[in-house]
Amino acid sequence: MMKFILIFLLFISINAKEPISPIPVKADYDLKKALLGKSLFFDTILSKDRSVSCFSCHNVYEDGGADSRDVSIGFDHRKGNIQSPTVLNARYNFVQFWNGRAKNLKEQASGPLNNPVEHNMNPQEIEKRLNKIPSYKEEFKSTYGVSYISYELVLDAIVEFEKGLTTPNSRFDKYLRGEINLTDEEVKGYKLFKHYGCITCHNGINVGSNSYQKIGTFIPYENKRKYPDRSEVTKNKIDENVFKVPTLRNISKTAPYFHDGSSKTLKEAITTMSEHNLGMAISDKDANYIISFLKTLDGETPKILNAE
Ligand code: HEC
Ligand code: HEC
Repeated sequence: MMKFILIFLLFISINAKEPISPIPVKADYDLKKALLGKSLFFDTILSKDRSVSCFSCHNVYEDGGADSRDVSIGFDHRKGNIQSPTVLNARYNFVQFWNGRAKNLKEQASGPLNNPVEHNMNPQEIEKRLNKIPSYKEEFKSTYGVSYISYELVLDAIVEFEKGLTTPNSRFDKYLRGEINLTDEEVKGYKLFKHYGCITCHNGINVGSNSYQKIGTFIPYENKRKYPDRSEVTKNKIDENVFKVPTLRNISKTAPYFHDGSSKTLKEAITTMSEHNLGMAISDKDANYIISFLKTLDGETPKILNAE
């Protein structure tokens, strides 16, 4: 592992190009479909007892598109088994879910709708319900030209909305484009982020979400409970405690942290990461610099949230 990190760091230093790239300022998506998807995202009609919507566990207004609870609560107040990740910028994830079991957003959206502890629905029931509502019938007709609302199109509209959920123009992206300067503290934080080696796993457009890694590469991360990790997909013991590296975009807003929601603050998450994934203790001072840097990754509110 150490060898891999060293080679990677060498690779970065040879390539003067920054290892993090800005989010495109304009997200391409179909506005009409996305607005329809937006209605569905917020509508509890998609859950069996009409108590939850996608928004219940992905607060795109306040919690950075994630859930401030350790594990989400779904249908019939049933508890989920893992922390809810953000839906913001999810279009840039290389796979979806903590263990990558969905290869894209469309495959992903089917998950919660059919999950007994989330929406607890099925495609037939969703079609039955939506086809009884004149306003949805009308909207699907004018958007897709159909007189019957199919489950496939419901997923399509939700995905189109999610494609609009991007947060461009963070201060860090503006800095990368040479438009603004960061404060000395923020620049120092970015340097430390690279120096410590955080960048080996958290890089690219989403500052993560482009590889699977273990939590506990250096010091094992013990957990009494079993969470759906990568081994659940590969059936390989070596993938225990392996997860998709989460994005660090808007990270200041998405507490609690980690798949188990065990870190309540960013400081705690950074300390755990340094210890377990880099095998070193980080000073309070350095952790604070890194926090200043991470805050520069907070982006703009997605335009689609204010569009009508
Ligand atoms: C009851 C809470 C709950 C509801 C309702 C819910 N989600 Fe999620 N969502 C989660 C949790 C928990 C995960 C992580 C599950 C996992 O990885 O095993 C997740 C994962 C995701 C991801 C993957 C993000 C990533 O980084 O991998 C996306 C995208 C997403 N949800 C979108 C949606 C959409 C769209 C809906 C509505 C159709 C929805 N969610 C409804 C809790 C919820
Ligand atoms: C070897 C790869 C690797 C390295 C190095 C690494 N991380 Fe991580 N990071 C991960 C993985 C994997 C997770 C998800 C762990 C989990 O939830 O079990 C994660 C999670 C996080 C989270 C929580 C994100 C969330 O949404 O819950 C933060 C914050 C974070 N890392 C910051 C850092 C910082 C700062 C450093 C450097 C001090 C660092 N990471 C180094 C792989 C890495």
